[in-house]
Amino acid sequence: MRTLIKNGTCVTASDTFVADLWIKDDKIEALVAPGTALGQADRTIDAQGRYVIPGGIDAHTHLDMPFGGTTSIDDFESGTLAAAYGGTTTIVDFAIQQKGTMLRQALDTWHAKAEGKAHVDYAFHLIATDVPPPVLAEMGEMVKEGVTSFKLFMAYPGVLLLDDQSIFRAMLRAGELGALICMHAETGLPIDVLVERALAAGHTAPVYHALTRPEVAEATGTERALALAEMAKVPVYLVHLSAQRALERVMEARDRGLPAYAETCPQYLFLSEDDLRGKPAGDGEGEFEGAKYVCTPPLRPKHHHDHLWRGLRNHDLQVVSTDHCPFCMKGQKELGRGDFSKIPNGMPGIETRLHLLYEGVREGKISLNRFVEITATAPAKIFGMYPKKGTIAVGADADVVVWDPNKRFELSHKNLHMRADYAPFEGKTVVGAPSHVLSRGELIIENDKASSKKGRGRFVRRATFSL
Ligand code: URP
Ligand code: ZN
Ligand code: ZN
Repeated sequence: MRTLIKNGTCVTASDTFVADLWIKDDKIEALVAPGTALGQADRTIDAQGRYVIPGGIDAHTHLDMPFGGTTSIDDFESGTLAAAYGGTTTIVDFAIQQKGTMLRQALDTWHAKAEGKAHVDYAFHLIATDVPPPVLAEMGEMVKEGVTSFKLFMAYPGVLLLDDQSIFRAMLRAGELGALICMHAETGLPIDVLVERALAAGHTAPVYHALTRPEVAEATGTERALALAEMAKVPVYLVHLSAQRALERVMEARDRGLPAYAETCPQYLFLSEDDLRGKPAGDGEGEFEGAKYVCTPPLRPKHHHDHLWRGLRNHDLQVVSTDHCPFCMKGQKELGRGDFSKIPNGMPGIETRLHLLYEGVREGKISLNRFVEITATAPAKIFGMYPKKGTIAVGADADVVVWDPNKRFELSHKNLHMRADYAPFEGKTVVGAPSHVLSRGELIIENDKASSKKGRGRFVRRATFSL
């Protein structure tokens, strides 16, 4: 099967050029001057006036994940289809080790969740919640199977939190294996005290989720994560960075030459603590609308947005992923009615990442090449998938998006495919959206219509860290 995408403007992390892109089966076969005769195509897409970009890579998703007394509402079928609609052709999801069990069990469980369901390619990180010596040894097996990154938590005491000694041991082991540690960096023990005190004082509304997880908790967590990684002499990747002071800690570390990397997420670039306050109805009902926006770290006051955009522009932040962790208001978020600490943490976003980031291009906050870099190329490099994924190059997987810079799209629930019963950006219209999405050469989305078959997505074995 040969596909020709003709006359498009190809955009990579470094270059922008007009070319015809030829795909043979699942790989990019050639990039040539428009009109160059290379034989017959079975399918031709005219991309005149549109961008041809690498399929997005979302390096942080939580599909079908038990969390906060319920399970995230998108599974590998609905979540990966929504990703495809939004131009994302690879995800990296988090398999969770239950305390007292082995990593093998977590990985097998996540393979079973994805197998036969995924519409796009997927890889796994492992969340390690318990790292006695046998588990540290087992990390080597996981790496051999292509799971080359481990997330550790400094928050959620009793559930996910690891103490510093365990974090340090896991970091040392990751260093031996060439694996990457991803840190949830929030100083979690005092946060729980603040939560207890807020509830005791009768502060139960969603906004107290943010008020009990202050910026300083993320800054100190980030600083500690960076210090531990420096002591262990290993690279570290800070996940879902939300705030100025945490970013400054990362910048200092990078300025000192340390291999520190960080991602932020669209919610921290576009939404704020104000959203957590809910509708100004003044009643409990309006206030509880804020539950839609409960995620961790919490949404911050608006002034953080500029710092995060600058971080992206200046390469202090390397990646934008979604932390897609969707829950419905009905039956899920409402578990926390009358107690904000029981609202499941997380928001839907797997489908709207590229649309939102492209707003940053339109507003001059990032360049088009940087847009490609932070949504595809950098996650591919950091997480061991480059150059198979994350770029437009001969021999790479033909994960390609034709991006229409003039297409208007309303980010409303009625237009989206994620299963949550609300859309965080309800009513917002963006300009710029995918017209065609190809995954390994298969046209899976064309003009907002899917022709993908569930189960076509494949597991991606990732290489060890080598930046
Ligand atoms: O609120 C969030 N972020 N939910 C997912 C869990 C995590 O910490 O990434
Ligand atoms: Zn986290
Ligand atoms: Zn997450």
